Amino acid sequence: MLKSVIAPSILASDFANLGCECHKVLGLGADWLHIDVMDGHFVNNISLGLPVVESLRKAVPRGDGVSKPKAFFDCHMMVSEPEKWVEEFVKAGADQFTFHFEATKDPLALVKLIKSFGIRAACAIKPATPAEAVYDLAPYLDMILVMTIEPGFGGQKFMPEMIPKVELLRTKFPELDIQVDGGLGKATIPVAAKAGANVIVAGTAVFGAADPGEVINFLRDEVDA
Ligand code: DX5
Ligand code: ZN
Repeated sequence: MLKSVIAPSILASDFANLGCECHKVLGLGADWLHIDVMDGHFVNNISLGLPVVESLRKAVPRGDGVSKPKAFFDCHMMVSEPEKWVEEFVKAGADQFTFHFEATKDPLALVKLIKSFGIRAACAIKPATPAEAVYDLAPYLDMILVMTIEPGFGGQKFMPEMIPKVELLRTKFPELDIQVDGGLGKATIPVAAKAGANVIVAGTAVFGAADPGEVINFLRDEVDA
């Protein structure tokens, strides 16, 4: 069975207390930290960049997962020309580099570049991009991210019409990590998990909850069900 991975999106956290926010969700059982990087060009918003990731890596070291939080940095790169940023994000502490299929001319070369640094490579598709677009690339990838909102902002409404893409990809690639991102929470996780998503990003639903630990457990139980 594929491992369930719960990845709170720090975009919905209190940036003034970012280190504490990250320690909190990791202590509550989060597997990864989902780090949304936006350049104001590929998407119509600017979020955070290299200096923040670098500082965060110092505040939340990789650890051994037992005595220290196993902070895996899942970098979702909503940027144009993603190839420009691989090396620096690796140096800053990225464990996975997710580029957008729509942002690059040569996705396979980019995957090879990412892998040459020894980290995981993933490819994201926006709502208008069909699942078929990444079929050829999938065997080279560690994960495919199916966006369930238009990228750019947290707190948007989940798009159920993206679910058939998750189903298609899961059927075709039974061993591949499939991530969903956007509008995931207690109400929307059942359909996404049933379709075969095993890596769940949740921003507002986790950081906005009175009991984030309960939400993390709920998401995981649905994926593992
Ligand atoms: C948006 C980002 C998402 C966002 C999700 O472009 O990719 O990761 O933070 O936020 P929620 O979970 O609030 O929809
Ligand atoms: Zn994201």
